[in-house]
Amino acid sequence: MKICVIGLGYIGLPTACMFADHGNYVIGVDKNPAVIEALSRGEVIIEENGLPELVKKVVSEGKLVAKSEPEEADVFIISVPTPITEDKHSDMKYVEAATEGLLPYVKKGDLVILESTSPVGTVDTLMVPILEKSGMKAGVDFYVGHSPERVIPGQILNELVNNNRIAGGLTPECARKISDLYKCFVKGEIYETDARTAELCKLSENTFRDINIAFANELAKICERLNINVWEVIRLCNKHPRVNIHQPGPGVGGHCIAVDPWFIVEKEPTLANMIHLARTTNDSMPTHVADRIASILEGVEDPKVTILGVTYKPDVDDMRESPLIHLEEILRNRGVRVAAYDPFVIGKPGITNDLEEAAKDSDLLLLGVHHHQFKTLDFEALGKLMRRKNFFDTRNFVDMEPAMNAGFSCTLLGKN
Ligand SMILES: NC(=O)c1ccc[n+]([C@@H]2O[C@H](COP(=O)([O-])OP(=O)(O)OC[C@H]3O[C@@H](n4cnc5c(N)ncnc54)[C@H](O)[C@@H]3O)[C@@H](O)[C@H]2O)c1
Repeated sequence: MKICVIGLGYIGLPTACMFADHGNYVIGVDKNPAVIEALSRGEVIIEENGLPELVKKVVSEGKLVAKSEPEEADVFIISVPTPITEDKHSDMKYVEAATEGLLPYVKKGDLVILESTSPVGTVDTLMVPILEKSGMKAGVDFYVGHSPERVIPGQILNELVNNNRIAGGLTPECARKISDLYKCFVKGEIYETDARTAELCKLSENTFRDINIAFANELAKICERLNINVWEVIRLCNKHPRVNIHQPGPGVGGHCIAVDPWFIVEKEPTLANMIHLARTTNDSMPTHVADRIASILEGVEDPKVTILGVTYKPDVDDMRESPLIHLEEILRNRGVRVAAYDPFVIGKPGITNDLEEAAKDSDLLLLGVHHHQFKTLDFEALGKLMRRKNFFDTRNFVDMEPAMNAGFSCTLLGKN
């Protein structure tokens, strides 16, 4: 089978490699010349466990070839970005351009699959009209559908194989063709459905998690008022066999959970009330944390806060949509000096890899992300560098005893 994968990022490149490593000839297409140049040398510009080795293998065997334009193939897979705009609407220009780009090459019997996370109706109302400009009829002359991706960065190669997958076709025959294709490497179940259902499934999965986190964040605020420890409440609730409350925190980041629910809200703004409220609840957390910092530092002149960890999740360098970046902005707008320290983020302006420099003359250390290094913070040494010894843990990650022994006044999110 000849497969053309459009967009070679975190999703497209591992997918292209998997197909190439399982008996297919794959053309990988990307608009970014740096991606194509690296790939032509058998190298990658993104970080993912096991990917450099796999790329080297399939490129050297001639099974994956990088190009800047598509070409004729049996299958086309689109895995381009689907970001949101400033006003929280889906920006579909990459999917639109990628689909337009296929028009000269799609022929009778071909299969076109959208992998990008997309609003409901993208396949049937955006892609099909473009592809039918070829004069062919979707579902009759060629096949089209959506098969969303559920992988987690760091585990992509493993999850591509082992996760269950949804194959959403414009018609049942389209779904069956998609399912048959992925069977060459997927060991999980593949569930066939229609394209619109598949689109909403992907969005609903991340929205479920967003709502659960919003519930935890709301509980955190309530516990602060009621003088109860939210982490203890959640720990004990989760002993119930049918309860699984997620963890509160300083907000939700990343390019999935913080983005996908808006695709549902934009489609049905009058109905998606809980989804919208969850998004705004999670987005309110940086302000909530800033308010708590303000009360800790009340009366302090020219205050300085040190943020420990600015990524959206632990032990990675990914800062996309990070709530800690929003927190930093809020604090600066309130006249607070901020030092942002992160051991994973290298070479980014405004973020230091020098913890001592970040802590110097600071009035408060705020744990933003639970990077493993923060488990063993040397509070004795840090306290000596600081102007005031305040510590605020937004993740319930650090043992407070050493901090208190070193004279720190300690605060925990979700506890008064
Ligand atoms: N990264 C994840 O963990 C993840 C998980 C599930 C779903 N998704 C979804 O998968 C899609 C892709 O995400 P990603 O993380 O791989 O994005 P990415 O930014 O890592 O990669 C996208 C690539 O597409 C290229 N591109 C853009 N327009 C193009 C065009 N017209 N032709 C050819 N190449 C083009 C870009 O240059 C880039 O290399 C998004 O919809 C995302 O929401 C991502």
